[in-house]
Amino acid sequence: MSEPERRQSRLDVFIARMTAQKSFLEDVATKIADIEGPVLELGLGNGRTFDHLREILPEREIFVFDRSVTAHPASIPDGDHMVIGEIRDTLAFCGPRVKRPAALVHSDLGTGDPTADLAKAHWLAPLIAERTAPGGYVATGIALDLPDFDALPRSADAELGRYWLYQKRR
Ligand SMILES: C[S@@+](CC[C@H](N)C(=O)[O-])C[C@H]1O[C@@H](n2cnc3c(N)ncnc32)[C@H](O)[C@@H]1O
Repeated sequence: MSEPERRQSRLDVFIARMTAQKSFLEDVATKIADIEGPVLELGLGNGRTFDHLREILPEREIFVFDRSVTAHPASIPDGDHMVIGEIRDTLAFCGPRVKRPAALVHSDLGTGDPTADLAKAHWLAPLIAERTAPGGYVATGIALDLPDFDALPRSADAELGRYWLYQKRR
């Protein structure tokens, strides 16, 4: 008789999430090779994903958005590329600074609370859609309703760790 399946602990979910985040970013870094435009990193946090993005995309301009800078000192963007404020405002009005639509938007703003995340997804999705280049990608820790995008297949880690990848139709 087979053992009953163990419940996934929060540690299991966290590890799956980090695994999905890393593999999505590395996969998408190769996919955007022929798409012009910067990367938008929504949520500096500790700076881990920003630091990874600049390692795997050394030629790409990366703009980072957060309401405050609390990252590890080694992972803070320069002043021209750190956009400080509420993303609901800054993403809507970053056009003059960012200039071109993004080849990749990475959004790591989830709270873990399903209601708060739904509310955030409601205002975030149209702002991200507006700032993404045709053919560009969105990797996100909150599921987004993006009508002009295709949702791309997700690994088991992405399903468990709640990470999504979308591509804007050309
Ligand atoms: C989970 S952390 C990001 C972690 C980061 N990707 C890393 O690897 O270290 C989320 C960050 O998003 C920021 N954030 C969340 N909601 C925001 C909002 N509405 N406006 C601005 N910043 C926000 C928080 O301040 C926090 O630093």
